[in-house]
Amino acid sequence: MIGFGRIALDPHQPNGATFGFALRPDAWGVAYGAETVRLLLGLEIEEIGLHRIWDGRSPLDEASARTMAAVGMIEEGTIRGHVRKAGQWRDSIVHSMLEEEWKGGWGSGGGSRPGRGEQRYRLPEGGQGHRFDGADSSRRSLRPGVT
Ligand SMILES: CC(C)(COP(=O)(O)OP(=O)(O)OC[C@H]1O[C@@H](n2cnc3c(N)ncnc32)[C@H](O)[C@@H]1OP(=O)(O)O)[C@@H](O)C(=O)NCCC(=O)NCCS
Repeated sequence: MIGFGRIALDPHQPNGATFGFALRPDAWGVAYGAETVRLLLGLEIEEIGLHRIWDGRSPLDEASARTMAAVGMIEEGTIRGHVRKAGQWRDSIVHSMLEEEWKGGWGSGGGSRPGRGEQRYRLPEGGQGHRFDGADSSRRSLRPGVT
């Protein structure tokens, strides 16, 4: 097993769901993350028939931001005080995909928004070392500090 994906349906959110994904560190960096998110979106929209899929990430989590941007998910905004980590409340940044966007191109690998690699997410001003230069082989070491 190299990781997992989960889908969470919500009776108060008809035709919508959240999802989650995580890979073992030795599987990072070879596109399995984007592939996992694509599989989850396809399952939720094409097989289950959902309309809106979303996930919240840490504001510092560039890997997740880029992974969701790479498959066409749109960054929507901030949920304040969403998750409690290490005794403190943390905001989450929401990314989503709608059924029409998926069926309009992203589900078949295309899409009508800016291309792969283009920044479609925001990180905190000043950063905390989470910005990633594609030539930087230390990218994996960025992950442990992300909450
Ligand atoms: C997020 C995660 C699934 C990414 O998996 P991955 O297989 O390494 O990602 P991919 O190789 O598919 O890369 C997808 C995009 O993310 C970028 N990326 C991956 N790791 C990165 C890192 N450490 N820093 C910055 N960008 C990163 C890639 O460059 C790529 O962007 P691009 O398409 O613009 O070039 C993996 O890091 C992970 O499991 N992290 C821990 C759990 C977690 O954060 N889950 C998500 C919670 S919201």
